[in-house]
Amino acid sequence: MSVLITNISELVTNAPGEADSVASPGPFEAIADAAIVLDGGLVAWAGLAAEAPAADEVVDAAGRAVLPGFVDSHAHLVFAGERGAEFAARMAGLPYGAGGIRSTVAATRAASDDVLRANLARLAGEMLAQGTTTFECKSGYGLTVADEARAVALAGEVTPEVTYLGAHVVPPEFDGRTAAYIDLVCGEMLAACAPSAKWVDVFCEDGAFGADEARAVLAAGEAAGLQPRIHANQLGPGPGVQVAVEAGAAAADHCTFLSDADVEALAASGGTVATLLPGVEFSTRSPYPDARRLLSAGVTVAIATDCNPGSCFTSSMPLCVALAVREMRMTTAEAVWAATAGGARALRRTDVGHLGVGAQADLIMLDAPSHAYLAYRPGVPLIAGVWRSGGRIV
Ligand code: NIG
Ligand code: FE
Repeated sequence: MSVLITNISELVTNAPGEADSVASPGPFEAIADAAIVLDGGLVAWAGLAAEAPAADEVVDAAGRAVLPGFVDSHAHLVFAGERGAEFAARMAGLPYGAGGIRSTVAATRAASDDVLRANLARLAGEMLAQGTTTFECKSGYGLTVADEARAVALAGEVTPEVTYLGAHVVPPEFDGRTAAYIDLVCGEMLAACAPSAKWVDVFCEDGAFGADEARAVLAAGEAAGLQPRIHANQLGPGPGVQVAVEAGAAAADHCTFLSDADVEALAASGGTVATLLPGVEFSTRSPYPDARRLLSAGVTVAIATDCNPGSCFTSSMPLCVALAVREMRMTTAEAVWAATAGGARALRRTDVGHLGVGAQADLIMLDAPSHAYLAYRPGVPLIAGVWRSGGRIV
Protein backbone atom coordinates (compact mmCIF):
# COMPACT_ATOMS: atom_id res chain seq x y z
CA MET A 1 0.00 0.00 0.00
CA SER A 2 1.39 3.40 -0.99
CA VAL A 3 1.30 6.43 1.34
CA LEU A 4 1.45 10.06 0.18
CA ILE A 5 2.56 12.58 2.80
CA THR A 6 1.71 16.02 1.49
CA ASN A 7 1.54 19.65 2.63
CA ILE A 8 5.12 19.39 3.85
CA SER A 9 6.58 22.86 4.47
CA GLU A 10 10.15 21.58 4.15
CA LEU A 11 11.20 18.10 3.02
CA VAL A 12 14.86 17.45 3.80
CA THR A 13 16.00 14.84 1.27
CA ASN A 14 19.83 14.96 1.25
CA ALA A 15 19.29 13.84 -2.34
CA PRO A 16 19.93 15.74 -5.54
CA GLY A 17 17.01 16.92 -7.63
CA GLU A 18 13.44 15.77 -7.42
CA ALA A 19 12.23 12.24 -8.02
CA ASP A 20 15.72 11.06 -8.97
CA SER A 21 16.76 7.61 -7.95
CA VAL A 22 19.89 7.96 -5.83
CA ALA A 23 22.28 5.32 -4.66
CA SER A 24 23.49 7.09 -1.51
CA PRO A 25 23.10 10.32 0.48
CA GLY A 26 24.25 13.53 -1.20
CA PRO A 27 24.79 16.96 0.37
CA PHE A 28 22.07 18.69 2.40
CA GLU A 29 19.04 19.29 0.20
CA ALA A 30 15.54 20.43 1.07
CA ILE A 31 12.37 20.97 -0.99
CA ALA A 32 9.80 23.59 0.06
CA ASP A 33 6.04 22.89 -0.29
CA ALA A 34 6.78 19.24 -0.85
CA ALA A 35 5.30 15.77 -0.78
CA ILE A 36 6.72 12.26 -0.58
CA VAL A 37 5.36 8.86 -1.54
CA LEU A 38 6.32 5.70 0.36
CA ASP A 39 5.73 2.29 -1.17
CA GLY A 40 6.98 -1.18 -0.35
CA GLY A 41 9.08 0.17 2.51
CA LEU A 42 10.98 2.53 0.21
CA VAL A 43 10.76 6.13 -0.99
CA ALA A 44 8.90 5.92 -4.32
CA TRP A 45 8.68 9.62 -5.17
CA ALA A 46 9.66 13.02 -3.68
CA GLY A 47 9.03 16.49 -5.06
CA LEU A 48 6.67 19.46 -5.13
CA ALA A 49 3.28 18.83 -3.50
CA ALA A 50 1.59 20.35 -6.54
CA GLU A 51 3.07 17.59 -8.72
CA ALA A 52 2.53 14.64 -6.39
CA PRO A 53 1.08 11.40 -7.81
CA ALA A 54 -1.94 9.70 -6.21
CA ALA A 55 -1.49 7.05 -3.52
CA ASP A 56 -3.61 4.58 -1.53
CA GLU A 57 -3.43 6.65 1.65
CA VAL A 58 -2.88 10.39 2.14
CA VAL A 59 -1.35 11.98 5.24
CA ASP A 60 -1.67 15.74 5.62
CA ALA A 61 1.49 17.16 7.19
CA ALA A 62 -0.29 20.50 7.66
CA GLY A 63 2.80 22.60 7.09
CA ARG A 64 5.20 20.51 9.16
CA ALA A 65 8.75 19.58 8.18
CA VAL A 66 9.77 16.03 7.20
CA LEU A 67 13.35 14.77 7.51
CA PRO A 68 15.21 11.48 7.12
CA GLY A 69 15.18 9.51 10.38
CA PHE A 70 18.27 10.13 12.50
CA VAL A 71 21.17 7.71 12.13
CA ASP A 72 22.90 7.38 15.52
CA SER A 73 26.21 5.76 14.63
CA HIS A 74 27.62 5.45 18.17
CA ALA A 75 25.85 4.02 21.22
CA HIS A 76 26.64 1.65 24.10
CA LEU A 77 23.25 0.23 25.07
CA VAL A 78 24.03 -3.22 26.47
CA PHE A 79 24.65 -2.57 30.15
CA ALA A 80 23.10 -2.77 33.61
CA GLY A 81 23.14 -0.26 36.45
CA GLU A 82 23.56 3.50 36.30
CA ARG A 83 26.10 6.11 37.36
CA GLY A 84 24.01 9.09 38.38
CA ALA A 85 26.15 9.70 41.46
CA GLU A 86 29.30 9.79 39.30
CA PHE A 87 27.63 12.43 37.11
CA ALA A 88 26.61 14.49 40.15
CA ALA A 89 30.15 14.28 41.56
CA ARG A 90 31.49 15.47 38.21
CA MET A 91 29.18 18.45 38.21
CA ALA A 92 30.52 19.19 41.72
CA GLY A 93 34.04 19.37 40.31
CA LEU A 94 35.50 15.88 39.84
CA PRO A 95 36.95 15.10 36.39
CA TYR A 96 35.68 12.32 34.06
CA GLY A 97 38.00 9.32 33.66
CA ALA A 98 37.74 5.95 31.95
CA GLY A 99 37.84 4.24 35.38
CA GLY A 100 34.06 4.44 35.87
CA ILE A 101 33.60 1.95 33.02
CA ARG A 102 34.62 -0.84 35.42
CA SER A 103 31.61 -0.23 37.70
CA THR A 104 29.28 -0.75 34.73
CA VAL A 105 31.24 -3.87 33.77
CA ALA A 106 30.61 -5.32 37.25
CA ALA A 107 26.87 -4.52 37.10
CA THR A 108 26.57 -5.89 33.55
CA ARG A 109 28.31 -9.16 34.35
CA ALA A 110 25.96 -9.64 37.33
CA ALA A 111 22.79 -8.97 35.31
CA SER A 112 20.53 -11.60 33.74
CA ASP A 113 19.88 -11.68 30.01
CA ASP A 114 16.35 -10.48 30.69
CA VAL A 115 17.53 -7.42 32.62
CA LEU A 116 19.93 -6.49 29.81
CA ARG A 117 17.27 -7.13 27.19
CA ALA A 118 14.72 -4.96 29.01
CA ASN A 119 17.22 -2.11 29.39
CA LEU A 120 18.12 -2.35 25.72
CA ALA A 121 14.46 -2.31 24.67
CA ARG A 122 13.77 0.75 26.82
CA LEU A 123 16.69 2.68 25.30
CA ALA A 124 15.84 1.60 21.74
CA GLY A 125 12.28 2.76 22.36
CA GLU A 126 13.50 6.13 23.64
CA MET A 127 15.61 6.53 20.51
CA LEU A 128 12.75 5.71 18.18
CA ALA A 129 10.41 8.15 19.96
CA GLN A 130 13.06 10.84 19.39
CA GLY A 131 13.36 10.12 15.70
CA THR A 132 16.28 7.68 15.52
CA THR A 133 15.45 5.01 12.94
CA THR A 134 18.93 3.47 12.62
CA PHE A 135 21.41 3.04 15.46
CA GLU A 136 24.66 1.31 16.17
CA CYS A 137 25.16 -0.65 19.40
CA LYS A 138 28.45 -1.70 21.00
CA SER A 139 29.44 -4.41 23.43
CA GLY A 140 32.19 -3.44 25.87
CA TYR A 141 30.71 -3.80 29.35
CA GLY A 142 31.17 -7.58 29.51
CA LEU A 143 34.90 -8.03 28.87
CA THR A 144 34.87 -11.83 29.30
CA VAL A 145 34.39 -14.18 26.36
CA ALA A 146 30.91 -15.18 27.53
CA ASP A 147 29.80 -11.66 28.51
CA GLU A 148 31.00 -10.05 25.27
CA ALA A 149 29.40 -12.82 23.19
CA ARG A 150 26.17 -12.26 25.10
CA ALA A 151 26.36 -8.49 24.51
CA VAL A 152 26.79 -8.72 20.73
CA ALA A 153 24.03 -11.32 20.51
CA LEU A 154 21.62 -9.08 22.48
CA ALA A 155 22.59 -6.04 20.41
CA GLY A 156 21.85 -8.04 17.26
CA GLU A 157 18.27 -8.49 18.44
CA VAL A 158 17.66 -4.73 18.06
CA THR A 159 19.99 -3.55 15.26
CA PRO A 160 22.10 -4.86 12.38
CA GLU A 161 24.82 -2.33 13.30
CA VAL A 162 26.55 -4.35 16.01
CA THR A 163 30.05 -3.46 17.20
CA TYR A 164 32.45 -5.69 19.08
CA LEU A 165 34.23 -3.52 21.70
CA GLY A 166 36.08 -6.11 23.77
CA ALA A 167 38.89 -3.52 23.82
CA HIS A 168 36.94 -0.97 25.86
CA VAL A 169 39.20 -1.09 28.94
CA VAL A 170 41.38 -3.72 30.61
CA PRO A 171 39.11 -5.53 33.11
CA PRO A 172 40.26 -5.79 36.75
CA GLU A 173 41.21 -9.48 36.55
CA PHE A 174 43.82 -8.52 33.90
CA ASP A 175 45.36 -5.64 35.90
CA GLY A 176 49.03 -5.35 34.93
CA ARG A 177 48.54 -7.91 32.13
CA THR A 178 47.34 -5.76 29.25
CA ALA A 179 49.18 -7.88 26.66
CA ALA A 180 47.39 -11.02 27.85
CA TYR A 181 44.04 -9.22 27.64
CA ILE A 182 44.79 -8.03 24.11
CA ASP A 183 45.56 -11.64 23.18
CA LEU A 184 42.14 -12.66 24.49
CA VAL A 185 40.40 -9.77 22.66
CA CYS A 186 42.14 -10.72 19.41
CA GLY A 187 41.73 -14.45 19.91
CA GLU A 188 39.04 -16.41 21.74
CA MET A 189 36.81 -13.40 22.48
CA LEU A 190 36.90 -12.21 18.87
CA ALA A 191 36.10 -15.71 17.61
CA ALA A 192 33.06 -15.82 19.90
CA CYS A 193 31.82 -12.36 18.89
CA ALA A 194 32.65 -11.97 15.19
CA PRO A 195 29.71 -14.07 13.93
CA SER A 196 27.27 -11.64 15.62
CA ALA A 197 29.00 -8.34 14.74
CA LYS A 198 29.64 -6.09 11.74
CA TRP A 199 32.20 -3.75 13.35
CA VAL A 200 35.29 -3.87 15.56
CA ASP A 201 36.08 -0.90 17.82
CA VAL A 202 38.82 -0.01 20.32
CA PHE A 203 39.10 2.76 22.93
CA CYS A 204 42.48 4.27 21.98
CA GLU A 205 43.28 6.60 24.87
CA ASP A 206 45.56 7.01 27.91
CA GLY A 207 44.01 4.74 30.54
CA ALA A 208 42.64 2.38 27.88
CA PHE A 209 44.71 1.15 24.89
CA GLY A 210 47.72 2.57 23.03
CA ALA A 211 48.33 2.86 19.31
CA ASP A 212 49.98 -0.54 18.81
CA GLU A 213 47.31 -2.30 20.84
CA ALA A 214 44.59 -0.51 18.86
CA ARG A 215 46.25 -1.50 15.57
CA ALA A 216 46.40 -5.13 16.69
CA VAL A 217 42.72 -5.17 17.69
CA LEU A 218 41.54 -3.59 14.44
CA ALA A 219 43.72 -5.89 12.31
CA ALA A 220 42.51 -9.01 14.11
CA GLY A 221 38.91 -7.84 13.75
CA GLU A 222 39.37 -7.24 10.04
CA ALA A 223 40.92 -10.68 9.61
CA ALA A 224 37.74 -12.06 11.22
CA GLY A 225 35.55 -10.15 8.73
CA LEU A 226 34.72 -7.09 10.84
CA GLN A 227 35.10 -3.49 9.70
CA PRO A 228 37.08 -1.03 11.83
CA ARG A 229 35.92 2.05 13.76
CA ILE A 230 37.55 3.66 16.78
CA HIS A 231 37.17 5.77 19.92
CA ALA A 232 39.84 8.42 19.38
CA ASN A 233 41.17 11.60 20.99
CA GLN A 234 38.39 11.88 23.58
CA LEU A 235 40.24 12.76 26.77
CA GLY A 236 43.36 14.31 25.30
CA PRO A 237 45.57 14.46 22.21
CA GLY A 238 46.76 11.04 21.07
CA PRO A 239 47.35 8.65 18.19
CA GLY A 240 43.75 7.43 17.76
CA VAL A 241 42.83 9.47 14.70
CA GLN A 242 46.06 8.53 12.91
CA VAL A 243 45.46 4.85 13.70
CA ALA A 244 41.90 5.18 12.35
CA VAL A 245 43.03 6.70 9.06
CA GLU A 246 45.86 4.17 8.64
CA ALA A 247 43.39 1.34 9.21
CA GLY A 248 40.86 2.80 6.77
CA ALA A 249 38.32 2.96 9.59
CA ALA A 250 34.77 3.97 8.72
CA ALA A 251 34.85 6.51 11.54
CA ALA A 252 36.99 8.09 14.25
CA ASP A 253 34.66 8.96 17.08
CA HIS A 254 34.89 11.75 19.71
CA CYS A 255 37.69 13.79 18.02
CA THR A 256 37.63 16.23 20.94
CA PHE A 257 41.38 16.94 20.99
CA LEU A 258 42.76 17.13 17.44
CA SER A 259 46.11 18.38 16.16
CA ASP A 260 46.37 20.04 12.75
CA ALA A 261 47.95 16.80 11.50
CA ASP A 262 44.89 14.85 12.70
CA VAL A 263 42.55 17.19 10.82
CA GLU A 264 44.70 16.91 7.70
CA ALA A 265 44.78 13.11 7.96
CA LEU A 266 40.99 12.93 8.23
CA ALA A 267 40.57 15.30 5.29
CA ALA A 268 42.94 13.26 3.14
CA SER A 269 41.51 9.91 4.25
CA GLY A 270 38.83 9.75 1.60
CA GLY A 271 36.42 7.87 3.82
CA THR A 272 37.08 8.11 7.54
CA VAL A 273 34.22 10.10 9.06
CA ALA A 274 34.84 12.25 12.16
CA THR A 275 31.94 11.48 14.49
CA LEU A 276 31.34 14.22 17.02
CA LEU A 277 29.54 13.35 20.25
CA PRO A 278 28.50 16.68 21.78
CA GLY A 279 26.47 15.00 24.52
CA VAL A 280 29.77 13.74 25.95
CA GLU A 281 31.27 17.21 26.26
CA PHE A 282 27.98 18.36 27.79
CA SER A 283 27.89 15.49 30.31
CA THR A 284 31.57 15.56 31.20
CA ARG A 285 31.85 19.37 31.18
CA SER A 286 34.66 19.21 28.62
CA PRO A 287 35.55 21.66 25.88
CA TYR A 288 33.58 21.04 22.70
CA PRO A 289 35.53 20.26 19.52
CA ASP A 290 35.24 22.89 16.78
CA ALA A 291 33.24 21.33 13.96
CA ARG A 292 34.01 24.34 11.72
CA ARG A 293 37.68 23.45 11.77
CA LEU A 294 36.84 19.98 10.45
CA LEU A 295 34.24 21.14 7.93
CA SER A 296 36.53 23.87 6.57
CA ALA A 297 39.21 21.25 6.00
CA GLY A 298 36.76 19.10 4.04
CA VAL A 299 36.32 16.36 6.65
CA THR A 300 33.02 14.42 6.61
CA VAL A 301 31.35 14.97 9.99
CA ALA A 302 28.71 12.86 11.71
CA ILE A 303 26.90 13.54 14.98
CA ALA A 304 25.89 10.74 17.33
CA THR A 305 24.78 10.38 20.95
CA ASP A 306 27.35 7.94 22.46
CA CYS A 307 24.45 6.94 24.73
CA ASN A 308 26.06 5.12 27.69
CA PRO A 309 25.70 5.22 31.48
CA GLY A 310 29.01 7.03 32.09
CA SER A 311 30.15 9.78 29.77
CA CYS A 312 26.75 10.65 28.27
CA PHE A 313 23.41 9.18 29.21
CA THR A 314 21.26 10.81 26.52
CA SER A 315 19.56 8.93 23.69
CA SER A 316 18.41 12.19 22.07
CA MET A 317 19.67 13.07 18.61
CA PRO A 318 17.65 16.35 18.71
CA LEU A 319 19.64 17.41 21.79
CA CYS A 320 22.91 16.52 20.02
CA VAL A 321 21.89 18.54 16.95
CA ALA A 322 21.11 21.54 19.16
CA LEU A 323 24.46 21.23 20.98
CA ALA A 324 26.35 20.85 17.70
CA VAL A 325 24.79 24.04 16.38
CA ARG A 326 25.20 26.09 19.54
CA GLU A 327 28.50 24.75 20.87
CA MET A 328 30.37 23.34 17.86
CA ARG A 329 29.58 26.13 15.41
CA MET A 330 27.69 24.02 12.88
CA THR A 331 24.89 25.54 10.81
CA THR A 332 21.48 23.97 11.33
CA ALA A 333 21.71 22.33 7.89
CA GLU A 334 25.19 20.94 8.60
CA ALA A 335 24.07 19.51 11.93
CA VAL A 336 20.97 17.86 10.48
CA TRP A 337 23.03 16.44 7.62
CA ALA A 338 25.61 15.11 10.09
CA ALA A 339 22.87 13.47 12.19
CA THR A 340 21.33 11.74 9.16
CA ALA A 341 23.54 11.35 6.07
CA GLY A 342 26.72 11.73 8.14
CA GLY A 343 25.68 8.87 10.42
CA ALA A 344 24.89 6.76 7.36
CA ARG A 345 28.39 7.41 5.98
CA ALA A 346 29.88 6.48 9.35
CA LEU A 347 28.03 3.15 9.15
CA ARG A 348 28.79 2.73 5.43
CA ARG A 349 25.06 2.63 4.71
CA THR A 350 23.70 3.99 1.44
CA ASP A 351 20.02 3.14 2.06
CA VAL A 352 19.42 5.46 5.04
CA GLY A 353 20.21 9.08 5.96
CA HIS A 354 18.49 10.43 2.85
CA LEU A 355 15.07 10.39 1.19
CA GLY A 356 16.04 9.94 -2.45
CA VAL A 357 13.92 7.57 -4.51
CA GLY A 358 14.86 4.02 -3.55
CA ALA A 359 16.01 4.91 -0.04
CA GLN A 360 14.56 3.08 2.93
CA ALA A 361 11.37 4.94 3.93
CA ASP A 362 12.67 5.98 7.37
CA LEU A 363 11.49 9.50 8.14
CA ILE A 364 10.37 11.84 10.86
CA MET A 365 7.81 14.61 10.95
CA LEU A 366 8.55 17.60 13.18
CA ASP A 367 5.90 19.59 14.95
CA ALA A 368 7.61 22.59 13.35
CA PRO A 369 7.96 24.08 9.87
CA SER A 370 11.71 23.60 9.36
CA HIS A 371 14.71 21.52 10.42
CA ALA A 372 16.15 24.62 12.14
CA TYR A 373 13.63 24.23 14.96
CA LEU A 374 15.62 21.25 16.27
CA ALA A 375 18.18 23.79 17.50
CA TYR A 376 15.88 26.81 17.71
CA ARG A 377 13.58 25.02 20.20
CA PRO A 378 16.06 22.91 22.21
CA GLY A 379 14.62 20.43 24.67
CA VAL A 380 11.11 20.60 23.20
CA PRO A 381 9.62 17.26 22.03
CA LEU A 382 9.21 18.11 18.35
CA ILE A 383 9.00 14.59 16.90
CA ALA A 384 5.37 14.35 15.79
CA GLY A 385 5.68 11.21 13.68
CA VAL A 386 8.18 8.46 12.84
CA TRP A 387 8.00 6.07 9.88
CA ARG A 388 10.35 3.12 9.57
CA SER A 389 10.46 1.06 6.38
CA GLY A 390 7.33 2.92 5.28
CA GLY A 391 5.27 2.05 8.36
CA ARG A 392 4.22 4.68 10.88
CA ILE A 393 5.41 3.68 14.35
CA VAL A 394 5.13 6.93 16.31
O1 NIG B 1 32.42 6.53 24.44
N1 NIG B 1 35.13 6.37 25.66
C1 NIG B 1 34.88 5.25 26.04
N2 NIG B 1 33.69 4.73 26.30
C2 NIG B 1 32.49 5.48 26.52
C3 NIG B 1 32.30 5.83 27.93
C4 NIG B 1 31.94 4.68 28.72
C5 NIG B 1 31.66 4.94 30.16
O2 NIG B 1 32.07 5.93 30.80
O3 NIG B 1 31.00 4.03 30.69
C6 NIG B 1 32.48 6.71 25.63
O4 NIG B 1 32.48 7.84 26.11
FE1 FE C 1 31.57 5.55 23.03
